[in-house]
Amino acid sequence: MLDVASGYPAIDLYLAQSYERVRGMSSRFAAAICGHLIRRQSALGVSGEFVEIGTFEGRFFIAMALGLEPGEKALGIDRFDWPDAGVESRFLANCAAHGVARDRCVSWKVDSREITPAELREKLGGRPVRFVHIDGHHSRDCLINDLELVAPLLHRDGIICLDDMLHPGYPMITSAVFEYFARHPEMRLLCVVDREDIVAAAKFLICRGESLGLYEQGLLKAFSRFHYALNADMETYFALVLTPRPRLAEVS
Ligand SMILES: C[S@@+](CC[C@H](N)C(=O)[O-])C[C@H]1O[C@@H](n2cnc3c(N)ncnc32)[C@H](O)[C@@H]1O
Repeated sequence: MLDVASGYPAIDLYLAQSYERVRGMSSRFAAAICGHLIRRQSALGVSGEFVEIGTFEGRFFIAMALGLEPGEKALGIDRFDWPDAGVESRFLANCAAHGVARDRCVSWKVDSREITPAELREKLGGRPVRFVHIDGHHSRDCLINDLELVAPLLHRDGIICLDDMLHPGYPMITSAVFEYFARHPEMRLLCVVDREDIVAAAKFLICRGESLGLYEQGLLKAFSRFHYALNADMETYFALVLTPRPRLAEVS
């Protein structure tokens, strides 16, 4: 098992003991990196809610919810109809079993394409979102919908995490991100979190360009042994790349 931790004790206990026992698809590597960012945000006073689109049984959701500060809430949005109608109750039971207080987690059984930013804002009581994980329907249209749904509610220094980027099974959805960057030049790729496995695929972390400096050095320091030294070439800038087993091709 990969030795990786967020630095936040409650998250790391969950990652070490229970993460892989909760059914789900996100990698423990990515959850540790995102847990580190939640902790960093708390240290910086970046406060707000955690939102996940595509919560399933709560594997990744629980890790992030355990890192929130008192009074902050975690909202899980899902159709909760796959693979059967029991998935929402299994999600809530998993939250309770792994230490997420009932009044901290909120589930919303809805298709993300059927809600507006105004309705989401109302659900959040007008509070900003500091961290979002988008892991719902893996189509370009839905990813664009989900990005435009959450971005207006994002804290100025908030982070959006996008699942299954560069996944061999969904080659088209990454293009939705680049279309989004073209429409929102204030947003930047903060980090590519490489995949552990085909079912625990890569994630992109994005935030406003002006917020990059809050997170880059902390990520580099905490995860230096996972840093891919060549980084990600975004044509006009380079973004961090963290990968479970970094190495370069041997050329001599
Ligand atoms: C890959 S699973 C999520 C895995 C989970 N985030 C994890 O890390 O373990 C995708 C989830 O997205 C949900 N979903 C798919 N399309 C959706 C939509 N349009 N609105 C809301 N949820 C959706 C599915 O019901 C499913 O539970």
